[in-house]
Amino acid sequence: MNATMPLEKKVHYPVMLDQVLSIISPQHGGTFIDCTFGQGGYSKAILKYPKTKVFALDRDKLVEKYAISLSKKFPKRFSFVRDKFSNLNKNINPNLNPKAIILDLGLSSLQLLDTERGFSFNSKNSLSMEMGINKCSAYDVVNNIDKKILANIIKVLGEEKDGKKIANKIEICRKKKPIKTSKELAQIIKIAKKNYINFKKNPATKTFQAIRIFVNRELTELILVLIEASKLLSEGGILIVVSFHSLEDKIVKSFFNFHSNLKGNSSRYLPVKENINELFKLTSKKPLTPNEKEIENNINSRSAKLRYGVRTNKSFLYSKEFEKKFKNFLKIEETRL
Ligand SMILES: C[S@@+](CC[C@H](N)C(=O)[O-])C[C@H]1O[C@@H](n2cnc3c(N)ncnc32)[C@H](O)[C@@H]1O
Repeated sequence: MNATMPLEKKVHYPVMLDQVLSIISPQHGGTFIDCTFGQGGYSKAILKYPKTKVFALDRDKLVEKYAISLSKKFPKRFSFVRDKFSNLNKNINPNLNPKAIILDLGLSSLQLLDTERGFSFNSKNSLSMEMGINKCSAYDVVNNIDKKILANIIKVLGEEKDGKKIANKIEICRKKKPIKTSKELAQIIKIAKKNYINFKKNPATKTFQAIRIFVNRELTELILVLIEASKLLSEGGILIVVSFHSLEDKIVKSFFNFHSNLKGNSSRYLPVKENINELFKLTSKKPLTPNEKEIENNINSRSAKLRYGVRTNKSFLYSKEFEKKFKNFLKIEETRL
């Protein structure tokens, strides 16, 4: 992708699209919910099949123009609402009976390459990292949050062992003058991690991930949407999640484990135990991943993991066990500035 190209010309390649389509089989028609519309890669692919309808959501204002153009093309089969996917049930009729609910987590190329948003290390613009409908920006977190809390955010949400060291360095720098850009922040982290020797990754990768997750409350959003989607699906409905980093995948894996036929089965040779919270049938505990050709064509797909389950006829009986496991994430993301 050419970095000098205007933003609207940049295209997001829908990750693992072939696998998603083969799981949801839109050729047989049905109503689908695309919770992460982006540039509409999944929605467009589904709408190519005449008997389909798509209801899409996204929190990002920038994607509205893509959604408007799609609703002009398919006025009776496509609708869009700009909202966070944790509000799924506020936006969808409980009797909609979707055939599948799809989540393709993380950032779109549009967001990543938008230098105004400060998601990339080289951005000289404002330190925002907001996907849309946020309560705080990366600027607020980096410049205003208590040093100990910042260290914990970086350590837990970034899985960064040097959280304390980085937070200390940020504190020293912000006392002199506010840290205004992502480029400045990346430089400060590089200095704090002076002994870093992984040449493949920028030393600021994990800290940027942590701050972005915090600003957008990404893990809380994910936990809530998994619960909301399970309520909305009826028997046979499919929940698909494509995730891109280990914390997201941990949550998705754990959710499907707690609520599936494979719960607690340490070996596939043992008889399957009945799970009273069996909301989903899974075919495997292992995620699907992109094939080599896709990774070659789109390097951003390399860390993708796709998990899915098919809704059983069990009534929604939510077990707090799942939420409890991730209460630390929920607590951190609740921190007010
Ligand atoms: C990886 S992109 C999706 C790309 C899309 N599948 C496509 O083919 O163009 C993720 C999108 O999800 C949106 N998103 C992330 N978290 C969200 C949330 N909690 N609620 C609503 N949208 C969200 C982002 O704004 C972004 O546009």
